[in-house]
Amino acid sequence: MPDPVTIPAHGRPSAELLAEVAGLHEDDLDWRGGRAFSLVYNPDDDDLEHLLEEVGRRFLHENALNPFKYPSLLRMEQEVIAMACALLGAPPRAGALTSGGTESIFLAVQVARDEARARGVAEPTLVTPSTAHPAFAKAAKYLDVAHVRVPVGADGRADVGATAEALDERTGLVVGSAPCYPYGVIDPIAELAALAAERGVLFHTDACLGGWLLPWWERLGEPVPPWDFRVAGVTSISADVHKYGYAFKGASVIAYRSRDLLERQFFWYDDWPGGLYASGTTAGTRPAAPIVGAWTAINRIGADGYLRMAATVRDTTRRFAEGIAAIEGWPSPIPRHVRARARRRSHRPSAGGHRRGGRRHGRPGLAPRPPAGRPAPHGVPVPRPRRRAVPRGPGRRGGGADGQPGRRRHLRRRGLSSGLRSVLGAVLAGASRRMGPGIDKALVEVGGVAMARRVADALRAGGAEPVVAVGGDRSALGRIGLDGVDDRHPGEGPLGGVCTALAAAERAGRPAWWWRPATSRGSPAR
Ligand SMILES: Cc1ncc(COP(=O)(O)O)c(C=O)c1O
Repeated sequence: MPDPVTIPAHGRPSAELLAEVAGLHEDDLDWRGGRAFSLVYNPDDDDLEHLLEEVGRRFLHENALNPFKYPSLLRMEQEVIAMACALLGAPPRAGALTSGGTESIFLAVQVARDEARARGVAEPTLVTPSTAHPAFAKAAKYLDVAHVRVPVGADGRADVGATAEALDERTGLVVGSAPCYPYGVIDPIAELAALAAERGVLFHTDACLGGWLLPWWERLGEPVPPWDFRVAGVTSISADVHKYGYAFKGASVIAYRSRDLLERQFFWYDDWPGGLYASGTTAGTRPAAPIVGAWTAINRIGADGYLRMAATVRDTTRRFAEGIAAIEGWPSPIPRHVRARARRRSHRPSAGGHRRGGRRHGRPGLAPRPPAGRPAPHGVPVPRPRRRAVPRGPGRRGGGADGQPGRRRHLRRRGLSSGLRSVLGAVLAGASRRMGPGIDKALVEVGGVAMARRVADALRAGGAEPVVAVGGDRSALGRIGLDGVDDRHPGEGPLGGVCTALAAAERAGRPAWWWRPATSRGSPAR
C-alpha cells in the first residue's frame, strides 16, 4: 500500500477490484463459522441471507431522505415502525427508524434534554448505570449534557438505592438496560422507572440488544422482568432490528410512550432558499437498503420464526452457562472488579459535570417531588413548565409585527381564550412577516375540527386564507372550507400529516405556510 494512499490516476478494472476486495475480506471475522460474538447476529438461515442481499441490492442507490419520492420506502418504514411499536407496547406511530442503537440513544437523550429544558431545567443531566452502553456517554458529550454514572450492584444490575441518591433537580433522563451489553443482565427497570416518574423525569429502556429478543423469550415462558412500555414510567425504548431482529446493519427503532414525545426529535427548517427541509431522525440523506432489509427480515421471519430463533439463543446461552459453570475453579459470572467496586460503593455519581451548579438536597441526593403540575402528554406528572407560550420577537404583544392591534381586538371579541389569542397573534404576525404580500394562505396544524374552525376564522379575519388543516374529520373540515389531511393515515410519512399536507398543497400549486403553536407541541418549528 503506497503511503499516503492517493486516488489512482486511472480507474482500475472491475475484475481486479473484485479480486482485491475478496482477498482483503478473507482476513475479516468469519461470522458464519460460529465463533463471532455480537458484531454480526447470524440467523443461520441461507434463504433469509440471500433474500436480504437481493432486496438490499435493489435499493442500494435509493435515498430515503424524501419519502414522497419513494412511496415504497415510506410504506415499508411505516410498517416496520408500527410492527416494532406493537412489539414494545408503544402507540403505532410513536416511533422512528434510525441507523442503529447509537442514533436511537442520541435521539432519546436529545428529546429528554429538550423536555427538561421546557420544564425550566437549564442544564439537564443524564443518569445511567455504569454498565450502560458507551452510546450514552457519547450522546452526553455531543449534546452537551452532564453524564452521571451510578455504580451497579454485585449482580451487575443497576442499583436502585444508589440511583435514587443520584437523582436531583437537574436530572433530565434516567436509563436502564434490557439487557446491558457487558453482563447481559436486565436492570430493575420497573423500580428505576418509578424513581424517574416520581420526579416527573423521562426514563429510557435501552433494549438495543433485548428489544427483538425478550418479547419472544417471554412468550417462550421464560421469566423476564418488566422492561417495556407496560412499565408505567418508561417513556422511550431503543430496540435494534439489526441485532436480534436479524436485519442487516443500519436499522434500529426508537419508540416513545407518545407521538408527542417523538415529535420533539423532528427537525423543520425553511429559513433558506431551498424550501421546507424536514427530517425525523439525525440523518439527512438516508440509505434505503436498511429500511427494505428490516421490513423484509421481519416479514420473512414472522412471529413463529422469532420464537424459534429465540429458543435457539436461549438454549445456546444455557449451554454456554453450564459449560462455564463446569470449569473447575471458575468463581462467579460477575467479574472481580465489579464485585470489588460494589463492595466499596460510595453512592457518588462519577461525572464532574453533575456537580456543576447542581444543588444537593438536605437529604443527601434526594430530589424533592416536583410541585403538582399538569400531567405531561406522556402521562408522567411534571412541574408546570416555565416556557413561553409564544416565541419572543416582534409582535409578541399587542398587534404583532405588522402593528395590527385591530386583529387582536377582533380575536378578543370572538371570545377566544387568552392562550389561543396569543397563539393566533403569533400566527398572524408570523403570517404577515413570513408570507409576504404575494402569499395569502396558511397551513395550520391544530387539534380537532372545532379548533380548526376557530383558527381558520381568525386567520381569515386577519386576511390569511388557511388551506389545509391536519388531523380531524375530513368531511367536517370540508364543511368549514378546509382541506383536511388525516394524520392517522398510514401513508403520511414519518413526520406526520404536516408533510403530507405540504406535499399536497405543493402538488396542487398552492402556496402553503405552516406554523406549529409552541403551546401544543413544545418548541416551535421556527
Ligand atoms: C445494550 C446496547 N445498547 C446500545 C448499543 C449500540 O448499538 P449500535 O452499535 O447499533 O449503535 C449496543 C450495541 O451493541 C448495545 O449492546
